[in-house]
Amino acid sequence: MLAGPADVAGWRTAARSLLADGVPAEAVVWSTGGHGDLFAGADAGDAPACSASAPSISVPREFVELAGVGLLHSDPGRFDLFYRLLARVAANRTALGDAADPDLVRARALAKAVRRDKHKMTAFVRFREVATEAGPRFVAWFEPDHHIVEATAPFFVRRFAAMRWSILTPERSAHWDGADLMFAEGARRADAPDGDALEAVWRTYYANIFNPARLKVSAMRAEMPKKYWRNLPEASLISPMIAEAARRTSAMVAAEPPVPKKGQRLMSKPIAPLSPDGNDIDALREEVDGCRNCPLWADATQAVFGEGPDDAEVVVVGEQPGDREDIAGRPFVGPAGALFDRAAEAAGLDRSRVYVTNAVKHFKFEPRGKFRLHKSPSTSEIAACRPWLARELSTIRPRLVVAMGATAARAVIGKPVKIGEARGRLTTSAEGVEVLVTVHPSFLLRLPDEARKREEYDRFVADLGLAAPFVKAA
Ligand code: URA
Repeated sequence: MLAGPADVAGWRTAARSLLADGVPAEAVVWSTGGHGDLFAGADAGDAPACSASAPSISVPREFVELAGVGLLHSDPGRFDLFYRLLARVAANRTALGDAADPDLVRARALAKAVRRDKHKMTAFVRFREVATEAGPRFVAWFEPDHHIVEATAPFFVRRFAAMRWSILTPERSAHWDGADLMFAEGARRADAPDGDALEAVWRTYYANIFNPARLKVSAMRAEMPKKYWRNLPEASLISPMIAEAARRTSAMVAAEPPVPKKGQRLMSKPIAPLSPDGNDIDALREEVDGCRNCPLWADATQAVFGEGPDDAEVVVVGEQPGDREDIAGRPFVGPAGALFDRAAEAAGLDRSRVYVTNAVKHFKFEPRGKFRLHKSPSTSEIAACRPWLARELSTIRPRLVVAMGATAARAVIGKPVKIGEARGRLTTSAEGVEVLVTVHPSFLLRLPDEARKREEYDRFVADLGLAAPFVKAA
């Protein structure tokens, strides 16, 4: 019996204890005791008590992350599914590599739906100001599809730390008073206020960022389903703006084009943040999975965003996720990552202190039998993904960016770079960021000659050694 539908910690304790006792999945009935639970109030009879002191089980980090997200899905079978998977992964750590396993496919689909729901919450919550005795409080109404309130509330704490706010949902409510985050029962829509002066600000902002030439009505409907519209002040503008788009686009086309300054390159222009209220790495990570700026998303398992401290002094940029990264959802966890880790350590660069990311966030590949062969991203795919890199860099504001390989160098510097000429020297990009170009670790992995491989590895370590002093002593 879990404490509630989002009780991931309770599930973990119970699962560990059940597994230690050798209880098979078919013998477990999971219950949250809540509304809609078939077994609510049922007598647990002679069911064994779960022990919090059961020995811990060693499973890959990917499973822990997958379960942590997927268990928040509203599917009543989720606890059972993840327990079955846990038993399999505990017996065989490589079980997660079986991409055809139906349980695994289902688990990943659940996690993806939960991530999407969390992203929708971060994007579509709109606060309305309410006067209270203690001063203004900002209250929002939201209807999530899954049990995500506890998991998503910390995002709002970070983003709106100085405000007092409440987010009301039918199942759970989150309240922030400037110091403590509290959760309480759900609420009714009627408990949330309707409309205030802030809405005018939203409408003005939305009308200003709307670009009629980039309007794709079906993509917009997919990203912003109608169910959210009634809570969005800007929704009243959508239909008139769609109706006006064709006329405004013709006017834009007929207008004089802006004249670029001498030497100015389109790709090297700094890219403004897209969200109205600044960037936040966790919010960007949520948002990037919905990116449709180029076609690569369609075949990839998921977008792979950067990882590491969001105030890192050094950001390391690779090309794009590989097969392993695509499945794990984390950058540089495969063979190129292992080589990078080894070289970074030899160079005195602590990976846990740097932020590691890629120029392109979706895996590009060609299916070949059972394998997915890496394909280099095109110039347009690099350009389409560049806003994400720009937003990571403008959020983290590193002292140094290390670009590994031609794709990364192109994305960071904004134009093609000859690695042989540029490597191992510190330069300053058009945006004023200090950049160090070096080779990509996959280049070293592909070298057939052992002596050359050793020589190139030593040069790579020497290049990374230039980055080490940028990381301040802890
Ligand atoms: N190669 C990259 O460039 N990035 C990764 O994340 C993995 C391999």
